[in-house]
This record gives sequence, structure tokens and C-alpha cells, in this order.
Amino acid sequence: MSKHQITITVNGQAYTREVESRMLLVHFIRETLDLTGTHIGCDTTSCGACTILVDGVAVKSCTVFAVTADGKQIETIEGVANGATLHPLQDGFWEKHGLQCGYCTPGMIMSAKYLLSKNANPSEEEIRRGISGNLCRCTGYNKIVEAILYAADKINAKEEVKA
Ligand code: FES
Ligand code: FES
Repeated sequence: MSKHQITITVNGQAYTREVESRMLLVHFIRETLDLTGTHIGCDTTSCGACTILVDGVAVKSCTVFAVTADGKQIETIEGVANGATLHPLQDGFWEKHGLQCGYCTPGMIMSAKYLLSKNANPSEEEIRRGISGNLCRCTGYNKIVEAILYAADKINAKEEVKA
């Protein structure tokens, strides 16, 4: 099996590793970098548990090979909080009880982060569409939508204070 040296920046830190060409990005993140907050729920691009940001775009990391991320900037759930300060989305999931078992939560938060980067003030309908690639078998989704609305309000309130 051919090997390739790749350099990927994950949560601001550059990692250079040799990987097999068949290694999936999600396995690179979890097994090579030991960042296990990104989950695997299906391995078939269905559940969204493995969602991360690649150059700012939400990607299901079980869908791409690690070699294709060479030179790219990746953000995983481990990079979302600012030190001990939770991101408004994390606050929202806490405050609005947007999780039960939590298995889908890292992927939900990354998809929601992408959504809010494109649309700072999404409607409930737009949020449901934004997370439509992420499955949750516990919550029934309503609390997740409330959590994302909460985060959007919080982020927008902060922006207003800055302006
Ligand atoms: S593990 Fe990637 S979509 Fe389910
Ligand atoms: S909280 Fe359990 S799968 Fe979503």
C-alpha cells in the first residue's frame, strides 16, 4: 500500500504524518492524532457524526481520504471552545438540553457552526435544513434547533455590543 507524507493543520496546530492512501480523514483525526471527539456513526456518509470543518466548510470526514486534506485547515470539536470558555453553540446545547447521549453532538455543533458562518440569523426552517445531514436518534431535533437559535442570538448580541 502506498504511503504519503501529508501536513494538515488541525485546530491551529500543524501535523506532518505519513499515511496510507486509503486512510479516511476521520481515522486520521481519531487514530493518528487521537482527537476522538469526532465520532463515527455509520462510515457511509449517512449520519453526520464525523462532521468537521475543512477550510471552513462542513465535511463528513468519513467521506474523504486523509491525503486529500493535505495542506488544509481543519477544525474539530476540540477546537471550538476558547480555552475554558464554551462557544455559544456549546452553551446553547447545554442551556437548551440539545443532547441526550451526546453521540451526534460534535457533528451537530460543527454543522451548526458552518451554518452560522454562512447565515448569522437563520430561521428555524433554515436550521433544520442546515442540520439535515446529521442524524440524532435521541432528541427529536427540537431541542437542537432551540440550541442553535440560542447560539445565534448570543453571537448576534455580542456583535451588536461590538458595533
Ligand atoms: S460516520 Fe461519517 S456520516 Fe456517519
Ligand atoms: S443525542 Fe443521542 S444521537 Fe443525538
